[in-house]
Amino acid sequence: MFFETKNGMKPPPFKRSVYTALVLPRPIGWISTLSKGGIINLAPFSFFNAVSGDPPCVIYCPNGWKTGLKEAKDSLVNVEETGEFVFSICTFELREQMNKTSAHVPSSVDEMALAGLEAADCKLVAPPRVKASPIALECKYLQTVKLPESRDKSPNNIVLGQVIGVHISDEVIVDGMIDVRKVNPLSRLGYLDYATLGDVFSINRPD
Ligand SMILES: Cc1cc2nc3c(=O)[nH]c(=O)nc-3n(C[C@H](O)[C@H](O)[C@H](O)COP(=O)(O)O)c2cc1C
Repeated sequence: MFFETKNGMKPPPFKRSVYTALVLPRPIGWISTLSKGGIINLAPFSFFNAVSGDPPCVIYCPNGWKTGLKEAKDSLVNVEETGEFVFSICTFELREQMNKTSAHVPSSVDEMALAGLEAADCKLVAPPRVKASPIALECKYLQTVKLPESRDKSPNNIVLGQVIGVHISDEVIVDGMIDVRKVNPLSRLGYLDYATLGDVFSINRPD
């Protein structure tokens, strides 16, 4: 089949928007920020990725409004006000806590505590990382790129940041490499689906 996207992403026979089931699996950017008043916000973003290596830069996309309100998501407000964010990798073991941090709660609520997670201090930025996560990236905010609005006029944004510090748990470093089996990252599929790693194999480059 083929469809144009101007009328949305749910043409027949699809029961739900099909878009997130088309580009996959997606890494989950578990992003912590601090409000101006120092409250921790933590939220998952599957519109997230590493986009350059030197200097290392990442993006996440806080899109739409807070549920029921015409207010920007805390992950956007906070990063634009404070200039810092932290990525913690989400593992299979942390899946339930990650899901809890996607709840829309007032900005006065510490979402690390809400999900029963312990916060660990960062070295170069003020927002904490998720202590139980084996990999975390400390990031300086670079800019927000405004994307076209949704059909309901809600906003879409790319937040771009530069990674300035890296935490790696010693437990996932084996023979000078990251052992991905020990990391056990969670990835996002379409709908309410997730995946863990399948087979891992290498392919040599042609040149
Ligand atoms: C696995 C997962 C991935 C998500 N990815 C996104 C995303 O890429 N962009 C987005 O705006 N919301 C995404 N959400 C919803 C946000 O996590 C949710 O709106 C969150 O409360 C952010 O709001 P806050 O910044 O105000 O805390 C995702 C939720 C889940 C469970």
